[in-house]
Amino acid sequence: MRKPLVMGNWKLNGTKESVTALVNALKEPADKAAPKADVAVCAPTVFIGLVEQLAAGSKLAYGSEDCDIHVQGAYTGENSPVMLREFGCTYAIVGHSERRDYHQETNEYVALKYQAAQQNGLIPVLCVGESEAEYDSGRTMDVVKAELQAVIDLCGIESFKNAVIAYEPIWAIGTGKTATPEVAQKVHADIRAYLATFNAEVADGVRILYGGSCNAKTAPDLFAQKDIDGGLVGGASLKAPDFTAIIEAAVANA
Ligand code: 13P
Repeated sequence: MRKPLVMGNWKLNGTKESVTALVNALKEPADKAAPKADVAVCAPTVFIGLVEQLAAGSKLAYGSEDCDIHVQGAYTGENSPVMLREFGCTYAIVGHSERRDYHQETNEYVALKYQAAQQNGLIPVLCVGESEAEYDSGRTMDVVKAELQAVIDLCGIESFKNAVIAYEPIWAIGTGKTATPEVAQKVHADIRAYLATFNAEVADGVRILYGGSCNAKTAPDLFAQKDIDGGLVGGASLKAPDFTAIIEAAVANA
């Protein structure tokens, strides 16, 4: 049985004050959910030390929104997976579509980030997903398979024993256009089937989250789908009552 995971991706949002209020409000829901579902927040790097202090002693896990392929050295502005681990991060998102788009991260480069995160004790959360044009032309799985394949080639199928996949159709991110539960379920099942061509046991065990306008309203039907193991939540993760409702939807479907 796969334990659901509800993960917030705060993106470039927050202040010391809002982060403090949000983490304090999420500790209890995370503790309550813990027997049935895992809860995490991925924060801008500058806030991770604060999240570490605030979340101490609770079941609220946290992570980074990205990480570098290097652990140290002359790489100005980058964030080392070793440093993120030192500050208690459990997860590192890699290959978010905003990074792929705005920072020209290729499938191969994302695979290197996935590898660096995993080799240094972080659980990579590998984001995959197609653009609207790719969706409209029926190329979703071509895109997603290529994104997965780069990681399989570099790290091997077994690496997914210690990783999370997030399917985020780009056309659904921040647009209010959620993929229908049926559309999302089909892609999640296709991802699992593709991984199963390499290793059925790994495919069965890996958590595949849905992301893209996942909110308190859409989460219950999405999480009821067989191959949807939780959500990677942007906008709705910034509001404690909304994120708490999403956590509760995951628990109800666990
Ligand atoms: P929204 O939930 O704001 O659509 O963002 C989704 C996302 O990109 C999470 O990583």
